[in-house]
Amino acid sequence: MKMPFTKNEHVNIVKAIAVGLNRAGSLNRYLELGIRKGPCFNAVAPLSKEAYAVDINDCYKFIKENKNLFWYHGTTTKFLTNHDKRKKFDLVFIDANHKHKSSLSDFRQTLPLVNDNGLILFQPVKN
Ligand SMILES: C[S@@+](CC[C@H](N)C(=O)[O-])C[C@H]1O[C@@H](n2cnc3c(N)ncnc32)[C@H](O)[C@@H]1O
Repeated sequence: MKMPFTKNEHVNIVKAIAVGLNRAGSLNRYLELGIRKGPCFNAVAPLSKEAYAVDINDCYKFIKENKNLFWYHGTTTKFLTNHDKRKKFDLVFIDANHKHKSSLSDFRQTLPLVNDNGLILFQPVKN
């Protein structure tokens, strides 16, 4: 599916949603799966009380300025398997491996970790 925006415009979209949740007082815990150089994470993390970042590559240097950071260096599968289920997320951006199978697996594992009124966002999925 072709999305109606260009390369890094997703950052504005995810941030706009985060701003809305923040204004409503309902952004306590943000999770981003797949960080790369952190443009989206760094835009959203300051709007949340806690901000969790997960990547198989070492992205820590790009996001370390965030005082509310919980950094996990490893696979999304391992992180989601081991995350404390009582610490539910209000906003999740699934943006790690974009293959259909991986995105679906991340979504299935993420769903039980999201608050009732929480939101899960995706990047376009490839087959
Ligand atoms: C599209 S980039 C993330 C972009 C970032 N969210 C942004 O807005 O700029 C995908 C990232 O996911 C990571 N990644 C890919 N497969 C992964 C996996 N199975 N577990 C954890 N991270 C993974 C890659 O190392 C890469 O940094």
